[in-house]
Amino acid sequence: MLPHVAVCLLVLAVPIASWSYKGDDGPQHWAGHFPTCAHHHQSPINIPLKKGLHHDTSLGHLDFHGYASNVALKLWNNGHTAKIVIDGNASVSGGGLPHGGKYWASQIHFHWGKDDKMGSEHAVNENKMPLEMHVVHYNSKYENISVAMHEPDGLAVLAFFGEIVEHDNEGFAALISALQKVKNAHDGQQLPNSTLLSGFMPKEHNKFIRYKGSLTTPPCSESVTWSIFTDHILLSKSQVAEFRKLYVTDSTGDHLVDNFRPLQQLHERHVTTNFKPSENSATALAPLYALVAFSIGLKVWV
Ligand SMILES: *[C@@H]1O[C@H](CO)[C@@H](O)[C@H](O)[C@H]1NC(C)=O
Ligand SMILES: *[C@@H]1O[C@H](CO)[C@@H](O)[C@H](O)[C@H]1NC(C)=O
Ligand SMILES: *[C@@H]1O[C@H](CO)[C@@H](O)[C@H](O)[C@H]1NC(C)=O
Ligand SMILES: [Zn+2]
Repeated sequence: MLPHVAVCLLVLAVPIASWSYKGDDGPQHWAGHFPTCAHHHQSPINIPLKKGLHHDTSLGHLDFHGYASNVALKLWNNGHTAKIVIDGNASVSGGGLPHGGKYWASQIHFHWGKDDKMGSEHAVNENKMPLEMHVVHYNSKYENISVAMHEPDGLAVLAFFGEIVEHDNEGFAALISALQKVKNAHDGQQLPNSTLLSGFMPKEHNKFIRYKGSLTTPPCSESVTWSIFTDHILLSKSQVAEFRKLYVTDSTGDHLVDNFRPLQQLHERHVTTNFKPSENSATALAPLYALVAFSIGLKVWV
């Protein structure tokens, strides 16, 4: 085993090569350099919809602050994902987050597949969606995200499944065109200052599924309170296709696709909802059942 300091130097010297989504430094090998990746509260997970989810009445709703105000957004290709760094004062609070705290919005990034059949990290009844968006927030009681990511109550990640529909999503238009300017790793591009965080959200974003887990990338820190929303972001086929045009390094190498981690075991964790599925199944769970139908190729909307 390499001494810890050697690992750190390696990570600093070649950040992009230190882990990846396939081959010798793929997910099966992450735990070699990042031991937490082998722990038992890891993400992503399959959401066992079939078994029924427990409604936790204490969760309530998440409150969004500054999502419709001007914040500076810069898009980066970091070799693992398309990441939007948020510079501003957007935050979430409530929603059963640890100690009812306020969590600052830090960055948004995406996971997607090489085609429309898969791409999301989380699954519902083992079924995947073409894309998943993560909005990463850190607990305002910590100085910055680097400190917070090592604390059990450090991060709150909001996850949204991306579903393919006929029409372009205008809220994503600026991001989609900026993707064309960050094809190589380390490329960055400021988004127009009219781009709002609220434009990335589905119209409805009240109902979520809650569990405690980890970062889905090394170092896999078990610091994340996950909120997985039942309503999807709706993107056109061609908008999703733009993500697949990025490169892991540059045009001499692979396209950046299938950047999702395999499903992790739930172990003894609880998965809860902030809504009552049985009382409201037609509306509350429709998007999730539609997801299952989509994934098995049925054109049926439940
Ligand atoms: C965020 O809030 C801090 C403190 O209130 C303020 O100094 C800073 O200018 C704000 N940043 C933006 C981008 O609004
Ligand atoms: C985060 O805060 C810690 C503690 O003050 C500091 O050592 C570190 O340099 C900061 N990191 C960043 C990226 O600002
Ligand atoms: C946004 O950009 C426009 C055009 O570049 C500029 O005139 C305006 O001052 C900017 N607004 C903010 C809030 O930065
Ligand atoms: Zn992610």
